[in-house]
Amino acid sequence: MTDLLERTPEYDHGPGSIPRDEPGSFTMWRYRRLLPVPDGPVRYPLPVGGTPLLPVPALRRASDMPHLWIKDETRSPTASNKDRATALVIEGGLRRGIDTITTASTGNAAVSTAFGAAAAGLRAVIFVSTDCQPSKLALMCQAGAQVFRVPDGYAAAVDLSRAAARTFGWVDRNTGVNPVTLDAKMTVAFEVWEQLGRRVPDVMIAPVGDGPTLVALDKGFAELIACRLATRRPRLVGVQAERCQPLVRTWLGIPAVAEELNPAGTVADGIAVLRPAIGDAVLDAVRGSGGGLVAVSERALLGAVASLAARAGVGAEPAGAAALAGLAVAVAQGLVNRKETVVLLVTGREVKSASTPDDRCAVTVAATLNDVEQALADGR
Ligand SMILES: Cc1ncc(COP(=O)(O)O)c(C=O)c1O
Repeated sequence: MTDLLERTPEYDHGPGSIPRDEPGSFTMWRYRRLLPVPDGPVRYPLPVGGTPLLPVPALRRASDMPHLWIKDETRSPTASNKDRATALVIEGGLRRGIDTITTASTGNAAVSTAFGAAAAGLRAVIFVSTDCQPSKLALMCQAGAQVFRVPDGYAAAVDLSRAAARTFGWVDRNTGVNPVTLDAKMTVAFEVWEQLGRRVPDVMIAPVGDGPTLVALDKGFAELIACRLATRRPRLVGVQAERCQPLVRTWLGIPAVAEELNPAGTVADGIAVLRPAIGDAVLDAVRGSGGGLVAVSERALLGAVASLAARAGVGAEPAGAAALAGLAVAVAQGLVNRKETVVLLVTGREVKSASTPDDRCAVTVAATLNDVEQALADGR
């Protein structure tokens, strides 16, 4: 974990690090001078990044916030911001000639990895908790991933995925572990800055699960400052569900009660993380930016999903809509002023498929590395 955050950037930072010309095709590779793939043709086949920054007029009127924007990450190939990290991890893997990628996930990173690996011709081995949404499981299977369901929950799934990566020499895409995931997600900050006319917003609001989405925003704006392209960073506001809010409670210095540490209790499965992988870095980023952390009710999450659909034409899943739910709380707490330029990061779309995994689906329950090895040997 320490390695993840203490890497020193190896790039030449300067105003030329981000091109000035209009992008021909707008993808995250526009920022490759600040990514660990500076040279040569990009091999990752799916177009990732370049998601729209939407002006949302109806939502602006309804919220009385004339400078509100939505950064719509639901337009990514598998409909979540996880595609950026998947793309950069696989790009590095292809350059090193690897054949298998693994990750644990609450759902979206797994779907993204399964589809990304399929597109790149790699094998994906995925570890999810047994309460992973069946529709997301079905998507992973559809993309041909080998999926392991881990009875002891998400943290155990991460441990198993990491152990398997070490043992079998696979690429480890685990969020909060592989530093490349942060590099990739910081491209959101570059895009927002460019899309606002090379301006830094006053505030950015993002959902927080393991933490990389928010921490990468901070890193991205820090890179812009290092390149002398910006002089300040936005205040960052992180959002968790009231029913799983370990970081909000730490932020407020109030011990959490059991109902506030219940990942299975929230509809926002993507951010239902009990022990965020880089929680301390989230707290540092929020503090350093002058922002805050807020918790939102289930009702507010579902209300935000409905508002995004009805007032912005954006179909989000509850975790993806958490920034909008958090906006009202942040305004009420004085963390955000209605006149400010505020960007909400909408991180994931509602799942379209209603299907559930069928018999052809390669899903195996695994609690130990032996179970994994056995299933792979059996070709299950
Ligand atoms: C839709 C959605 N939003 C937000 C997050 C949280 O991202 P992070 O783990 O980077 O904090 C996730 C993570 O799975 C997610 O699926």
